[in-house]
Amino acid sequence: MASLSFTQIKTKNPVAEFAKAHPKTGLLRSRRVGFRVLASETQKEPDLSVTVNGLHMPNPFVIGSGPPGTNYTVMKRAFDEGWGAVIAKTVSLDASKVINVTPRYARLRVGVNGSPKGQIIGWENIELISDRPLETMLKEFKQLKEEYPDRILIASIMEEYNKAAWEELIDRVEQTGVDAFEINFSCPHGMPERKMGAAVGQDCALLEEVCGWINAKATIPVWAKMTPNITDITQPARVALSSGCEGVAAINTIMSVMGINLNNLRPEPCVEGYSTPGGYSSKAVHPIALAKVMNIAKMMKSEFNDKDYSLSGIGGVETGSDAAEFILLGANTVQVCTGVMMHGYGLVKKICEELKDFMRSHNFSSIEDFRGASLEYFTTHTDLVRRQQEAVKQRKAVRKGLQSDKDWTGDGFVKETESMVSN
Ligand SMILES: Cc1cc2nc3c(=O)[nH]c(=O)nc-3n(C[C@H](O)[C@H](O)[C@H](O)COP(=O)(O)O)c2cc1C
Repeated sequence: MASLSFTQIKTKNPVAEFAKAHPKTGLLRSRRVGFRVLASETQKEPDLSVTVNGLHMPNPFVIGSGPPGTNYTVMKRAFDEGWGAVIAKTVSLDASKVINVTPRYARLRVGVNGSPKGQIIGWENIELISDRPLETMLKEFKQLKEEYPDRILIASIMEEYNKAAWEELIDRVEQTGVDAFEINFSCPHGMPERKMGAAVGQDCALLEEVCGWINAKATIPVWAKMTPNITDITQPARVALSSGCEGVAAINTIMSVMGINLNNLRPEPCVEGYSTPGGYSSKAVHPIALAKVMNIAKMMKSEFNDKDYSLSGIGGVETGSDAAEFILLGANTVQVCTGVMMHGYGLVKKICEELKDFMRSHNFSSIEDFRGASLEYFTTHTDLVRRQQEAVKQRKAVRKGLQSDKDWTGDGFVKETESMVSN
């Protein structure tokens, strides 16, 4: 499916073009998704800056498309607080077709005995894309780029299954001076009848056609945002990259039903007594997002390792450690959406410091020093069995623990089980 001989037909931005032509200038990222760790001998202040598809960011933290990128005021705030880049709330040509409901959020908390005051770990939304007029959003993108010419503003876009509509949207948004596009092929709720969002991302034939239209028109880098609501996320990711996209972003929200109110038997979030499945985000989705990103990174490493393709990890990031995990799996950037809704824009300062602490503890001086470093430790279950049998064989000579579970005494099951592994 993947085509390594894909020919770029776009005229990219000059910085990206220069970087592609002059890889030794250091403008381009390393071609590797996974590599060995290099520790420097003298400890310097870790450098969080990244250059992705020719776009330079002071740190890898990107505002994920959603409420934190709704309007000029909040996006300006994100730049002022120090976010590496901002992805605006998804826009389409005709906002009058986008009709939101209230309430549109429901939360999952962990609290003692189901206390409603517990920490939020899961967040469901049935929010659609931006319902603000496109003209207004375009004016705000332009103003932001005029005021912050060196900062990276990415427009998230979504349209119907209509080539002319996609071309018009791309043209109008590009004129504002935004640095890149993220294509929303992944919104899980609303408007599937218009073949929008996940309806495209879940159908590889449709995706290939739409990516073809987009990449023939766009002259700035394009990231395809993937839905996790599909059996094998590497399939649409492969289609997007071989159809001309420069990067993949994953994941959008996971299809969910937050719960049922046991007093009135109605589902949440409840709109006039009814609900509809929504998109799940926040801490609870982080392990699922890591698995999806790992699968995409492995596929990219084996099939798309020859070009400047990028990967953006998204899902449940609230700490520098959460971000380090995505980067260790090969992500170039890390997006945060619900985390900003809960903790505010100042969160970026905390996660930058935490990521630097992690880097110091390993003597990493740049993001590239550890990007993809954990990828090689994923294998199949069959291989785990083979490795363990091999290790057991090698340790046979120094028998310390029990031989098998027939020898368990019942005193300390965990200790006895572990002693079998060291046999
Ligand atoms: C309320 C809400 C609205 C969202 N709206 C959009 C959107 O307009 N476009 C989009 O691509 N993703 C949207 N997302 C998805 C997020 O960008 C992100 O992919 C997802 O929430 C997982 O990341 P998180 O756990 O950091 O929130 C939205 C998420 C939330 C919670």
